[in-house]
Amino acid sequence: MDIEPFALERWLAEHEHEAPVNLGDSGVRPLEAARFDTDPGRLGYVIPTNGDPDLRASVADRYDRGADELLFTCGTQEANLLAVLATLERDSHAVCVTPTYQSLHSLPAAVAEVTRVELAAPEWRLDPDDVAEAIRSDTDLVVLNNPNNPTGRIHPQETVDAVYDLAAAADAYLLSDEVYRPLAESDERVEPVASMGPHGLSTCGLSKGWGLPGLRFGWLAGPEEVVTAAWEWKDYTTISPSAFGQHVGRQAIEREDELLAENRAHVRRNRDLLDAFVDEYGLDWHLPAGATGFLTVPEAFESSEDFCRALADEGVVVAPGETFDRPEYVRVGFGADRATLSDGLDRMGRVVEDRRSG
Ligand SMILES: Cc1ncc(COP(=O)(O)O)c(C=O)c1O
Repeated sequence: MDIEPFALERWLAEHEHEAPVNLGDSGVRPLEAARFDTDPGRLGYVIPTNGDPDLRASVADRYDRGADELLFTCGTQEANLLAVLATLERDSHAVCVTPTYQSLHSLPAAVAEVTRVELAAPEWRLDPDDVAEAIRSDTDLVVLNNPNNPTGRIHPQETVDAVYDLAAAADAYLLSDEVYRPLAESDERVEPVASMGPHGLSTCGLSKGWGLPGLRFGWLAGPEEVVTAAWEWKDYTTISPSAFGQHVGRQAIEREDELLAENRAHVRRNRDLLDAFVDEYGLDWHLPAGATGFLTVPEAFESSEDFCRALADEGVVVAPGETFDRPEYVRVGFGADRATLSDGLDRMGRVVEDRRSG
């Protein structure tokens, strides 16, 4: 099995460690561990290894599913890996909507053949007809990220319904990575795909909406045959969720009204700050849900990487559009604490002005 290097992770590994201002991240500033009870007692494996049955039942309920239709994982990343391994084989085919978080096309491409369907800039609209054209008789999986990273675009209910129907008609699964869904406002959120019917698989986790990426706690929800197959793969990846992850994750889920409201308010305020920057420098973007914006690269720069390297020299890490195969754009994370974002935008402004005047 060949897998492409994860371009964004490699870029961050090169730059994020030393940089004073990190806007390369796609999440919300992490919460302090002190806000939770952090003593899970004995540090055994979580047993049963698919996660605590009561907690699974309570999370599964939001998808109108039962405890055996949900598997706890080490982050959304593992949930996506397991979903891909459970649904694709060497001679099958997947349709992946891009640009997106690289796992959502590189993992399917490591196992099967992939056809990419491109979102159309500047609104990053998904045309279900493009999905229909890409689906083949051997298609087993269609992959979506909603809200989308990097663009922040929410695909509306009628689009998701149409794509679900196309996947179902092809007897394929629709996998929707919904890790940014908790950051969308309630009137913007669309129904999770796992609650739409027997072809729907949703992945999610506590990294983004809850601001708890270090917990490594996520899940896969969907039909029992896929969740069971994913669990059988998990026996070879991480065996069980982390005991710390589940212990703190349970509290975070119980307190989700408070935590999500706090984090949503935080990203909305920060988004306004970045929106003002976009205006001031004559850039363009689609006003995002989630915590990442995909901005056009200022004209004075040859490419996104050129811009990002100049920013790195000024101590700011952002994500080059090249890591999403879109060199005309740059991804800026705006979930950081307010002072960090302000500092980063001041530095970004200086870099743009210097290049424009030089
Ligand atoms: C769309 C998407 N899915 C999954 C992940 C990984 O999430 P986790 O930290 O829950 O594994 C990310 C992280 O950036 C992401 O953007």
